[in-house]
Amino acid sequence: MSTLKIGVIGAGSISEAHLNSYKGNNEAEIYAICDLNEERAAKAAKKYGATHVYTDYNELLANPDIVAVSVCTWNNTHAEISKAAIKAGKHVLVEKPLCRSVEEALDLQEVVRSSGKILQVGFVRRYDPNAQMLRKFVENGDIGDIYFAKASSIRRLGNPGGWFSDVERSGGGPLIDIGVHVIDLCWYMMGRPKVKSVSGNTYHKLGNRSNIENLSFYRAADYNAKLNTVEDMTNALIRFENGASLLVDVSFTLHAKKDEGAVKLFGTKGGLEIDPEISIVTEKYNTILNITPQVDSGGFDFGRAFQSEIDHFVSCVKSGSEPLSPVEDGLEMMKILCGIYESAAKGEEIHFN
Ligand SMILES: NC(=O)c1ccc[n+]([C@@H]2O[C@H](COP(=O)([O-])OP(=O)(O)OC[C@H]3O[C@@H](n4cnc5c(N)ncnc54)[C@H](O)[C@@H]3O)[C@@H](O)[C@H]2O)c1
Repeated sequence: MSTLKIGVIGAGSISEAHLNSYKGNNEAEIYAICDLNEERAAKAAKKYGATHVYTDYNELLANPDIVAVSVCTWNNTHAEISKAAIKAGKHVLVEKPLCRSVEEALDLQEVVRSSGKILQVGFVRRYDPNAQMLRKFVENGDIGDIYFAKASSIRRLGNPGGWFSDVERSGGGPLIDIGVHVIDLCWYMMGRPKVKSVSGNTYHKLGNRSNIENLSFYRAADYNAKLNTVEDMTNALIRFENGASLLVDVSFTLHAKKDEGAVKLFGTKGGLEIDPEISIVTEKYNTILNITPQVDSGGFDFGRAFQSEIDHFVSCVKSGSEPLSPVEDGLEMMKILCGIYESAAKGEEIHFN
């Protein structure tokens, strides 16, 4: 069977993870790369053997040989580019977050649903083999009903600057950028319950602290610390219709002693920890047991999770099956994230019907 010709739109920092993983999949062929910055696109094309370079994504989409695309651009272009790609008959893997607003997400969902094409949202944490392994414990009832979860992603210093810190292009700060990963992971592990209400707080207290020396952090390809219109910290409480709740705290910067991530879920029969290391907690014969699953890596393995995300996308395109993270889940996540921002702006809880 012939390989799938892939186009990658956006050749900045995260595109490397997509390109490396397509390279690692022998059913995919890196065929075209597009970036507003021609030199960046050409450099990536040379490195990964793509024969076509574009600066206008519409021209890439007009190439009939391309079957599927990865959208790795700024958040404000996700909806527009994904929509155009679907309309051009391509399958789409779009980076998280799906877009910037519920309206954009609803519009995109409609286009996807009427197209017969696949849109997979890049919720990479779901694709980590550890998450998939632990999900089996949940599905088989070992954890019981999950009624409480914690999603935390604290950077003491890590505002990526550039478009990430421009609310017009990003849609928000740490909540929409890194919070989305851990919130989605908890929500997915909880069985995707319907959200009932959210209550959030955002803080713009420390700025981006571009004065700090001697510590490096993730940066946008076009790093610029001058513009910063996003929050530096968000916390939130999400309530679900089934009575479960999810507690969130995320930051680009905070006076924390170190970076910290926590993804923990608590059920009626047991508990699960995913971040910082996987663990299962349960009770047997009146004794509490902390169980450590024996796996290659107990922490989150970015490269392995990305490979599994890309492999899944390629396989869905080939088989026509629905991806593990469909557009509908991208929309639900936008409801939660935008609800939290709205709650913080109004200073009150937001209820969903
Ligand atoms: N899954 C993850 O763990 C993860 C990690 C980082 C970033 N991301 C997501 O990936 C996306 C890109 O982030 P990044 O860190 O690579 O940013 P980046 O700034 O490093 O790269 C973005 C690239 O997109 C290009 N671009 C923007 N608009 C374009 C357009 N209309 N047409 C063509 N090219 C365009 C820019 O020129 C830039 O080269 C974001 O949505 C971000 O949220 C995901």
